[in-house]
Amino acid sequence: MSSPATAKITTPSTTAELPPEHIYFGPSKAMQTVRQRVERAAGLNVPILILGESGTGKELLARFVHFRSPWTAGPFVKVNCPAIPGTLLESELFGFQKGSFTGANAAKPGRIEMANGGTLFLDEIAELDAALQAKLLHVLQDGHFTRIGDHEERRMDARVICATNRQLAQEIDAGHFRSDLFYRINVITITLPALRDRRDDIPYLVEYLRQNFNRKFQRDTPPLSKETLHLLQDRDWPGNIRELENAMARYVVFGSEDTFFAERSERPTTQFHYEASEGNIPLKRIAQQATRQMERDVILRVLQANQWNRRKAAEVLKISYRALLYKVRQAGLPVKRPRRKAPDQENSTFGSADSRIS
Ligand SMILES: Nc1ncnc2c1ncn2[C@@H]1O[C@H](COP(=O)(O)OP(=O)(O)OP(=O)(O)O)[C@@H](O)[C@H]1O
Ligand SMILES: [Mg+2]
Repeated sequence: MSSPATAKITTPSTTAELPPEHIYFGPSKAMQTVRQRVERAAGLNVPILILGESGTGKELLARFVHFRSPWTAGPFVKVNCPAIPGTLLESELFGFQKGSFTGANAAKPGRIEMANGGTLFLDEIAELDAALQAKLLHVLQDGHFTRIGDHEERRMDARVICATNRQLAQEIDAGHFRSDLFYRINVITITLPALRDRRDDIPYLVEYLRQNFNRKFQRDTPPLSKETLHLLQDRDWPGNIRELENAMARYVVFGSEDTFFAERSERPTTQFHYEASEGNIPLKRIAQQATRQMERDVILRVLQANQWNRRKAAEVLKISYRALLYKVRQAGLPVKRPRRKAPDQENSTFGSADSRIS
């Protein structure tokens, strides 16, 4: 049985790139809006543009749209635009005729053709160079294309889904992306929220991923304690679901909630969230952040070294017990020692996940 927030893709793929079994939407308003838009748009043969930071699930959503569309029996063909060098990308997309360039020993269909009857997924579309943007625009306007070195016009017969983690408006302003291409691909836009903007979903996602990894790794790792769950909900997750997914995989493999804290303290302390595009770099704020991060790491190590005995830790750090508690909370560290093995399911915010996940 499928929970209302989880959607199962049951149709087998005809391509080598098999879809993952589930996409988890979660109960947050933002994700429910995404789901409604997908359900409405999946059946229409109009381009869809999926926006969202890295790791928010753009590719997973593109596959979901495909499997919810009338073209689900057709192929899902992905083109990872930045992964293929410019000149090669053109032949990959459009295909070529025998002898059209050195090394073209046999004719080859491009990915546009391979996607016939299915979905063409153009990933990281903002990375296309100017010449290819013009060619793609032409295909989308005209519905026809030619292989390199060929005269025959072929009809494009695929639904197009594009994705990017860039701000396309900024790319257009900077002259890096054609506005006419933007209007072509942007008939329906679906924006995936960053994980920090859907914190309500985190406990559900955690539980969903825990069960998935338990099945995958044949483990029986228990649900997380309330404290750790709250802590994870407070994190910013710059790597979004991908980062949470990795953290949960580690937890299931090692069977200890310590993995959530160990992993954080190993991070370089110079990793702050200042985008170059933000322009201003407030040094004072960076210094404060760096100090807090260092404090956090030291407190964590001292707590770990003293089996989470807070009085002892306060003594070692030469601060008052109250000051330590304040700093522990401020740093988002658990006040009590995180459980190593936690068979006590009552302690968890979520009971049996069977009631939630199919
Ligand atoms: N809603 C979701 N439910 C379950 N797993 C998810 C969900 N969204 C993302 N994931 C998982 O997170 C990881 C990243 O997803 P995906 O590759 O689709 O993100 P992306 O937005 O395309 O990232 P990037 O911009 O870095 O390419 C994948 O392993 C995917 O299975
Ligand atoms: Mg992607």
